[in-house]
Amino acid sequence: MTTANKHPTYNIILCGFMGTGKTTVAQLIATRLGWRFADTDHVIELRQGRSVREIFAEEGEAFFRRQESALCLELGTWRRTVIATGGGIVLSPDNRAALERAGMVICLEAPPEELVLRLSRTLPDRPLLAGAVDPAQRIRELLAERAAAYAAVPYHIDTAGCTPRAVADAALELWNQTRQHQ
Ligand code: S3P
Repeated sequence: MTTANKHPTYNIILCGFMGTGKTTVAQLIATRLGWRFADTDHVIELRQGRSVREIFAEEGEAFFRRQESALCLELGTWRRTVIATGGGIVLSPDNRAALERAGMVICLEAPPEELVLRLSRTLPDRPLLAGAVDPAQRIRELLAERAAAYAAVPYHIDTAGCTPRAVADAALELWNQTRQHQ
């Protein structure tokens, strides 16, 4: 866990690689704070009327990334919402800047071997992993490619061996600590 600069307190935004537990943890935090919960993938799916897998297959990744960027800009108008984001959203520096204007942005991290185990059950739903000959190798490659983007997120929580509840506790502790210094 690290502390960093001042940030807006309107929303809490969870980023990180696929399988780091963003959605489950965001739901737990929202319940604890009595805030709303949202998931950017789900918002895009609702607006598009199809799944992320279908959007990638029918329109391509670039189209999906444009929907993500538009949504990042919109998040600045949201309040008291805990938002789980898609694993690739922070690859764009513009998206990262928009997210940081919208709230406290926390990156959830996990060791590659734990991600491989957690993701093995949901590979068909994940367009970036579904076609891989060696999904474990693909996960390691994507993590390496994305390391700098994830490192650029202001706050980090290591989820290795942690339950979602423990990660939610850590996020809330971070939230309370940093708010006291604002
Ligand atoms: C992606 C992660 C997915 C989804 C899409 C692309 C990525 O979200 O946005 O398949 O680039 O890492 P989750 O991290 O919620 O699985």
